[in-house]
Amino acid sequence: MAKQQPVGLETDGFKAYDDKDKFKATNKEGNNIKKMYAVVSGKGGVGKSSISCMFADATNKLNYKTGLMDADITGPSVPKILGVHEVAGATETEVIPAETKGGIKFISINLLLEDDNEPVLWRGPILGSVVKQFYEEVSWGEVDYMFVDMPPGTGDVPLTVYQSLPIDGIIMVTSPQGLSGMIVAKAINMANQMNIPIVGIVENMSYFECPDTGKKHHIFGESHVEELAKKYDLKVLGKLPISPQLTELCDNGRIEEIKNNPLVDIVKEHLL
Ligand SMILES: Nc1ncnc2c1ncn2[C@@H]1O[C@H](COP(=O)(O)OP(=O)(O)OP(=O)(O)O)[C@@H](O)[C@H]1O
Ligand SMILES: [Mg+2]
Repeated sequence: MAKQQPVGLETDGFKAYDDKDKFKATNKEGNNIKKMYAVVSGKGGVGKSSISCMFADATNKLNYKTGLMDADITGPSVPKILGVHEVAGATETEVIPAETKGGIKFISINLLLEDDNEPVLWRGPILGSVVKQFYEEVSWGEVDYMFVDMPPGTGDVPLTVYQSLPIDGIIMVTSPQGLSGMIVAKAINMANQMNIPIVGIVENMSYFECPDTGKKHHIFGESHVEELAKKYDLKVLGKLPISPQLTELCDNGRIEEIKNNPLVDIVKEHLL
């Protein structure tokens, strides 16, 4: 039997790709964002938000003006990891981003809600328009590097980000247990179809290094990231260990206190 097109979908699939320019966000006067990287995964819970914040910390510590956009509207976790919860200043026409102690500017829907425990019950198109507003209406000023922490998967928000924002590259995050090939493939294929270059893959929670013996244990199974990278002709940017200290820093909003941020080397080698 011939494959049936889902009801409501045009036969030419992602029609929106053809009209890419129609969705472009306009640059706000006074903003100059030089490079934007989206931090993406197929599956949830692999560490995108932690890694987005660590990337922001890395460029910030290298003295680049750094911004971070929390594009996970229904599951925002950036304020918690960065330890800043104050509502960003807002007027009728602009939003002032929040700023960490170290000077990272960021925006998250949780900074704009009266009660950050309230769920966001908005449908896809509205979620997308919030992300667009994060670009068009936030007074970012000069930013050398902006990271976009994405929700997992290939839904409305990633589609809006890819179509609307000037993303220079995608950083794909996986974990050994998250490497269900098909799910990662969907995220990679989406980026390819949208013509956004993938800088490479970071494998998070790759192994645990025993502090007593120094031996590496592959708690979540053997890594398949090299195979994946080869299959899609991508670079492996790095493998990060399972680190109880990192969980602690993220859970307590102290990520900027991280010692020897392992992403500094990745930034120097692949992002600058
Ligand atoms: N390398 C690591 N070692 C130990 N804990 C980690 C590591 N990376 C992330 N975590 C922890 O794993 C949990 C999930 O991480 P995080 O929220 O960054 O994932 P995510 O991919 O953004 O999730 P979601 O898809 O829900 O947005 C957090 O509690 C975080 O502190
Ligand atoms: Mg997240």
